[in-house]
Amino acid sequence: MVEVFDSSAFIQSIEHRPKPTSTVEAEGIPLIDLSALNSSDTGAIASLAAEIGDACAKWGFFQVINHGVPLECREKIDSVQRKFFGQSVEEKSRVRRDELNPMGYYDGEHTKNVRDWKEVFDFVVEVPTIIAASPEPGNKELTMLHNQWPEFPPNFREACEEYTREIEKLSYKLLELISLSLGLPANKFNNFFKDQTSFLRLNYYPRCPIPHLALGVGRHKDAGGLTVLSQDDVGGLEVKRKSDGEWIRVKPTPDAYIVNVGDIIQVWSNDKYESVEHRVMVNSERERFSIPFFFNPAHYTVVEPVAELVNEQNPAKYKAFNWGKFVSARNLSNFKKLQVENIQIYHFKESD
Ligand code: OGA
Ligand code: NI
Repeated sequence: MVEVFDSSAFIQSIEHRPKPTSTVEAEGIPLIDLSALNSSDTGAIASLAAEIGDACAKWGFFQVINHGVPLECREKIDSVQRKFFGQSVEEKSRVRRDELNPMGYYDGEHTKNVRDWKEVFDFVVEVPTIIAASPEPGNKELTMLHNQWPEFPPNFREACEEYTREIEKLSYKLLELISLSLGLPANKFNNFFKDQTSFLRLNYYPRCPIPHLALGVGRHKDAGGLTVLSQDDVGGLEVKRKSDGEWIRVKPTPDAYIVNVGDIIQVWSNDKYESVEHRVMVNSERERFSIPFFFNPAHYTVVEPVAELVNEQNPAKYKAFNWGKFVSARNLSNFKKLQVENIQIYHFKESD
């Protein structure tokens, strides 16, 4: 990853280091069968929505099977992902992101100011994706995001685009089920995603000589709407259990997707569904691959608790904020290690 290996940037402070043995796997996040989506039985859909609502409220995370994403599609992106990251850093750097274009290959990400033990490749779903150019509230300037595609492997772009179309379909179904589970019309949130700022990330976690000191991704919450993640059979994703704060390992389940609600759904639901902290452990024996799809609304979306879910007994817990300004502030800070904390949704929390 770096020429002269210096591991100090990766070292987590003692309280955040992974525990090698104590993570509980027995009672994992809920596993939900989406087959009912293929039936016209409204009762079956209502009970599926209720099951998803329970998982969102209790865990903020769940896995889905019988989701409708063809296995071939997943195998194809998995194969090009391995080929791409198998190249030298020099080769991969031909599509390296820079200050002007945040899409492409990157190996220097920091979470909470500690470097992550990973490499990534990001691409946006809408081309171009329109975002705010500056985090300043008064600045109305917009900018466009374009993708950079590597030449190798030759079917890389095609595999990525095919997978994206399928995972996007699944994400809309999940969004609709979540909306139903909140007692809202199924399509309540759909319009926000018309000019989506969604992106896909290919994650590569190389073998790590210091797995007890470093993390693949440090503890964080996903900022957007919904995340739909594919992980391989190695395992390493841990979710903070809401009931006691214990880190729970998400057991790899063949052909399942892991779904979690992001900060935006937390705000829309007025804290009914919280965006839960998670992190990724690495290990010294096997490299690991994962693919999160970050399903995010249009830049101009004003994010605030849904009117139908607030009343005098349950007042809005957040001030409205502009999603594009939030992203823009994050993008700026992502590029460099900051001395101060990144922008977070709790900065928009109403004081009680
Ligand atoms: C992320 C993330 C989990 C994983 O990229 O935001 O949480 O298992 N990834 O790679
Ligand atoms: Ni995440």
